[in-house]
Amino acid sequence: MALKFDFTHLLYSETIPNGIKPDEIEKNRARAEDAHHKIINDRKNDILGFYELPDFDTKKIHAFANDVREDFDCMVVLGIGGSALGNRALYTALKTEKNLDRKLYIADNVDPYMMKEILDQVELPRTLFNVITKSGTTAETMSTYLIVLNMLRDVFGPDYKKHVVVTTDAEKGFLRQLIVKEGYRDFVVPGNVGGRFSVLTDVGLVSSAFVGIDIDKLLEGAKAMRTRCENEDVMKNPAYLNALLHVLYMEKGMNISVMMPYSNPLYDMADWYRQLWAESLGKRYDVDGNEIFVGQTPVKALGTTDQHSQVQLYVEGPCDKVTTFLGLEKFTWDYEIPAIYPERDEVNYLGGQSLSTLLNVERQATEIALTDAGRPNCTILFPTLDEHHLGEFIFMYEVQTVFAGKLLNIDPLDQPGVEAGKIATYAMMGKKGFDERRKEIERFMKSKIEKGRIL
Ligand code: PA5
Repeated sequence: MALKFDFTHLLYSETIPNGIKPDEIEKNRARAEDAHHKIINDRKNDILGFYELPDFDTKKIHAFANDVREDFDCMVVLGIGGSALGNRALYTALKTEKNLDRKLYIADNVDPYMMKEILDQVELPRTLFNVITKSGTTAETMSTYLIVLNMLRDVFGPDYKKHVVVTTDAEKGFLRQLIVKEGYRDFVVPGNVGGRFSVLTDVGLVSSAFVGIDIDKLLEGAKAMRTRCENEDVMKNPAYLNALLHVLYMEKGMNISVMMPYSNPLYDMADWYRQLWAESLGKRYDVDGNEIFVGQTPVKALGTTDQHSQVQLYVEGPCDKVTTFLGLEKFTWDYEIPAIYPERDEVNYLGGQSLSTLLNVERQATEIALTDAGRPNCTILFPTLDEHHLGEFIFMYEVQTVFAGKLLNIDPLDQPGVEAGKIATYAMMGKKGFDERRKEIERFMKSKIEKGRIL
């Protein structure tokens, strides 16, 4: 059974008065067709490499996973953004479902506490470090790599190389040069696949195969979704339809997109989505250079936990959110709630029911509460929690994001807004070539104190 997309409450109804009306969709048909043709064109020009990933050859990854199985049972990914979020999302989704006994840690920050927690937990002789960076220069990844390298050299002497795997561009970047110099085992981030679209490349597949995730089933799921997402009729293509409806809501000023999984294993998928939607669509300029300041802020929430934290705001606060529930139909693991106090109405209704029933009822109850309050929402239903449906989900959201970008006439593949922060970091950390910027920043910092702006 395929992943289901229930968009009922994104459409206009008596309860959703600002919902999208059929004639609004009709009016946007030509716009959607144009976006579709732009995607076809980009695929022809080899710009949207992620579309071809369902056909990815996984032989090298399998050979690697077999090769290291005996010696290693723990992997630490050193990466950030698109070089980390998908790895974590897949592992979180499946580690309990599949009883994965190999450990995966994701070091996607330069927080010393995070680093200590990870390094304290791993058994170094049984640990592989997978350094993932497309550009091969990202400050966060390079700094954790240098720390780990130093530590591995101290502990293992010349054998340190066995503990390092590198995933980077096939030709470019400092790290590619290191692979040659150090003789590390290596994998590739394809040049035509952007960082946040790269989970179905070596970036996400190597760590997944290592821990025991069936990466071929993941790609099969992506392939099945690709077929659905190649339909040019917006009403029959789940990714196109969801993109169009979200864009139309954005144009009504609903600039927050909440993703709310009712399942802890899917929570990190919402984090993966957060980067994809934010970095791809948050843009100042359209492709013609007009200043448009567009984007929809993605927020993640967890059901039922955040019913007791966020839902009050979603139901009664400003009507500026479009919520997507992620639901799971069939649970492999479950608990029956025992009927311990049959004489007490306060808890008796729970007795004999399963936890998963309660979880799903609460998801539907929140859907009803939002709908009754006129708040647009939709649901993505996973029939089961497995590689196939995760592959479908990932592929659908990648297409949805690019299609939304085309509808908005922006480039969903770039991220110029991230650059300013990177340059300031280089300057303050003393990187060669950034002296002028460093002096400006120092002057600014001094002026904050002089003007008494820090209490
Ligand atoms: O989507 C992107 O391109 C970014 O989020 C990158 O994934 C992130 O900045 C990490 O870059 P790199 O893989 O070059 O270290």
